[in-house]
Amino acid sequence: MRIEQDVGHPGDRRRRVADVHRRAQAREALEHDSKPTWFEYLELPLRNDGMFPVTWALWSRMPLLFTTTCRFGRLTEKTMQVTGTPTPPRKFAHFVLRTSRYHEVVDFYKALLCAHSTFSNDILSFLTYDEEHHRIAVLNVSGLQDQQRGTAGVHHVAFTYDSLADLIANYERAKLQSIEPVWCTNHGPTTSFYYRDPDGNQLELQVENFATVEESIEFFHSPEFAENPIGVDFDPEELARRLRAGEPEVDLIKRPHSGPRGFDAHIKIF
Ligand SMILES: [Fe+2]
Repeated sequence: MRIEQDVGHPGDRRRRVADVHRRAQAREALEHDSKPTWFEYLELPLRNDGMFPVTWALWSRMPLLFTTTCRFGRLTEKTMQVTGTPTPPRKFAHFVLRTSRYHEVVDFYKALLCAHSTFSNDILSFLTYDEEHHRIAVLNVSGLQDQQRGTAGVHHVAFTYDSLADLIANYERAKLQSIEPVWCTNHGPTTSFYYRDPDGNQLELQVENFATVEESIEFFHSPEFAENPIGVDFDPEELARRLRAGEPEVDLIKRPHSGPRGFDAHIKIF
């Protein structure tokens, strides 16, 4: 059951997310430790880049299969097990768009995300809204075809705000610049506003509904999510009105029960 929570400083949440990853890595390491490979029995020295085994295998005329696997520098599952902790990226850095609507797209991201340019010329713009040197890059390429519905690729990119008040304030500010969401829904773990850029790329601006990652993951496994994995749609104006009227955010971001839902015509993103 959800109770009122102090969501705390955003840094606390990042630390909790890091803890979840560390615990998952520790679990994986334990699983690997319980299944030693023949490498471990032989106590062969290994380097993280896998080069020593390659050299060693070639020198000692190891079976062709092994040398072939490692020759191109790939770390196989077996070598991963003995080379230590897997190293995921520290963060997601940026994404890059190519467009023939260059100035339109640059202006859109600046307006929607309160971003500014750290570099810009006639063919390339770097945009950021925080400490990163660029979060979005836009390439000016003439003659590109428009996106076709039903083409495989990225569905949307999401940005998280600290609070519902921030999210609503951004919605209202963007609306004044004629940028409006195409779909608003409460997924359960997030309250989300979906937008489309001038090329049709889809963006989600969201606020987390739960205070912890564990609660969000728990929701994915709940009967409520099984019944409706899509979301409960809302009117952004009504949500803004209720927030201004003083209703607590913790109540406004709680997903109401609306019964079963699958993919339907009300989903305004494709
Ligand atoms: Fe999303």
